[in-house]
Amino acid sequence: MENKAQYWTNEHVHSTLPKREESSHKGTYGTGLLLAGSDDMPGAALLSGLAAMRSGIGKLVIGTTERVIPMVVPALPEATYWCDGFTKAADEESSFEDYRAIAVGPGLAADRKMENTVQQLLKAGCPVVLDAGALSNRSYPKREDPTILTPHPGEFARITGVEVADFQQKRTYNASKWARKLGVTIVLKGNETVIAFPDGEAWRNPTGGSALAKGGTGDTLTGMILGMLCCHENWKHAVLNAIYLHGACADEWTKSRSSHTLLAHELSDLLPEVWGKY
Ligand code: APR
Ligand code: MG
Repeated sequence: MENKAQYWTNEHVHSTLPKREESSHKGTYGTGLLLAGSDDMPGAALLSGLAAMRSGIGKLVIGTTERVIPMVVPALPEATYWCDGFTKAADEESSFEDYRAIAVGPGLAADRKMENTVQQLLKAGCPVVLDAGALSNRSYPKREDPTILTPHPGEFARITGVEVADFQQKRTYNASKWARKLGVTIVLKGNETVIAFPDGEAWRNPTGGSALAKGGTGDTLTGMILGMLCCHENWKHAVLNAIYLHGACADEWTKSRSSHTLLAHELSDLLPEVWGKY
């Protein structure tokens, strides 16, 4: 048996969630950039965008395709858009100075264009979250700001080359080993998601369950992490609290409803009530 990481608990969440100061304004919480959604997977931009805007962010810019924008706007008029931002972000000239945090990947393919975009984003002076299509087998430059990878087991296998069957019994050990090796934070998703930081610190998440085993819930998590990074002073707390609350929303759902029935966007609907308890 491996030494599993400790749980990030209710008490930890209580003591680390930020307050929204009365004198604050949207600039206090910063602008997040979300590169997500494509013509085949437009919903990913909406799911992650909704979650980010529910998670304490000041302003959100969604970089997605011209065809996806009008699909997202009716459900999320609060965001602004960077038309074809995903493609334009690969440009050497692009500047990311204005952003407090960046997330890329939901609803995007892992192709050469993505690789160029990721390489540019890693030059930004802020936390960068890589999910779904942005996850691939590569090394990472040394950065002052955190690089956060959010793989499910299949994606973890893709980025490390280790077979799923060879790491699932030792999730803490393997997530920590690769976090250190790559110099990044690894959020190894699934039941009891493991959060492994590059300095060796690691936690396990006690919330959430099989209600989350449905397409789109990962996109929602990426949005929550982006939003939390914008409103937390401490980026580690932001990551841990996003994962905890994401699961807590699913737990809230299953108090009175079947775990078969949860839709990913409903996590964002539940978040205000769940967060309100803290
Ligand atoms: N118990 C607890 N949590 C679970 C369980 C479970 N049994 N099953 C799933 N989850 C949680 C995971 O921990 C994670 O937070 O649900 C989420 C699922 O995330 P993903 O596997 O990433 O699923 P999702 O992203 O929604 O799938 C569609 O995959 O390849 C990408 O681009 C594609 O964006 C699309 C996405
Ligand atoms: Mg996913």
